[in-house]
Amino acid sequence: MDRASLAAGHADSHYWDRRARSFARSTHARADEFLQILDPYLSPRKTLIDVGAGTGRHATPLAARLEWVTAVEPSEGMRSHIPPLDNMTIVASTWEEAEVAPADLVISSHVMYGVAEPIPFLEKMQRSARERVFVMMRESDLPHPAAELRRKLVGATGPRLPRFSELFMLLVQMGSEPDVAFLRYPIVTRYIDMDEAMADCRALFGEGWDEAEARRELEALLTRDGDELVFDGGMALSGVAHWKPPTSS
Ligand SMILES: C[S@@+](CC[C@H](N)C(=O)[O-])C[C@H]1O[C@@H](n2cnc3c(N)ncnc32)[C@H](O)[C@@H]1O
Repeated sequence: MDRASLAAGHADSHYWDRRARSFARSTHARADEFLQILDPYLSPRKTLIDVGAGTGRHATPLAARLEWVTAVEPSEGMRSHIPPLDNMTIVASTWEEAEVAPADLVISSHVMYGVAEPIPFLEKMQRSARERVFVMMRESDLPHPAAELRRKLVGATGPRLPRFSELFMLLVQMGSEPDVAFLRYPIVTRYIDMDEAMADCRALFGEGWDEAEARRELEALLTRDGDELVFDGGMALSGVAHWKPPTSS
């Protein structure tokens, strides 16, 4: 199976190193209902592991509500945006390779798109969670300019990213009966200039990239907003599955 395009980019920590600045800028202001789903389970005596914590957009506010947060993040560029906190450990590793003590809650938001072996990934989350596991993935297509460019330059060929409904079916096959919540929110990707936008799209695009054509199409896709170039990805639909892990898995 060719995982050489969008999914491979998602699994590549060098992609996230380059993407970090734009990702932090694009997601920083997003009001995140994911935290509202976690809210009933939070307490100052509980601990949490954030698998693929990225720039810490969830781990950081969660640390204020919990005793301890462990943020597992393989990309140095993404980790560099997580502010140091007294009650947070940052683990520089993929989840597959991380050695972390169990916590009450284990979360993972928008990480599994490029995970080649999802079952052991989820099983490790279950083994590491005393109380509850939360996994968020998009159900709608990737609202990113690289995906739009792929459609324009090479058509709708190549594997699409895994989506929430596939995660749900997998969990059912694994014997879990997750609760499900759906979230709808606008996705806007922000770049400081054309070079940053081109570098981001080039890294995620996969095979068939044409520099001149991509630049022409990208210029048409982006709009200016003050100092920034903006891609309006419209509304995204994401699902959150959450469940109590089996006592042994
Ligand atoms: C789209 S970002 C999401 C970050 C954060 N969870 C959020 O919602 O803002 C995906 C993150 O997953 C990380 N990642 C990718 N594969 C991973 C793996 N196998 N284990 C842990 N993290 C991974 C990437 O480095 C990247 O920071």
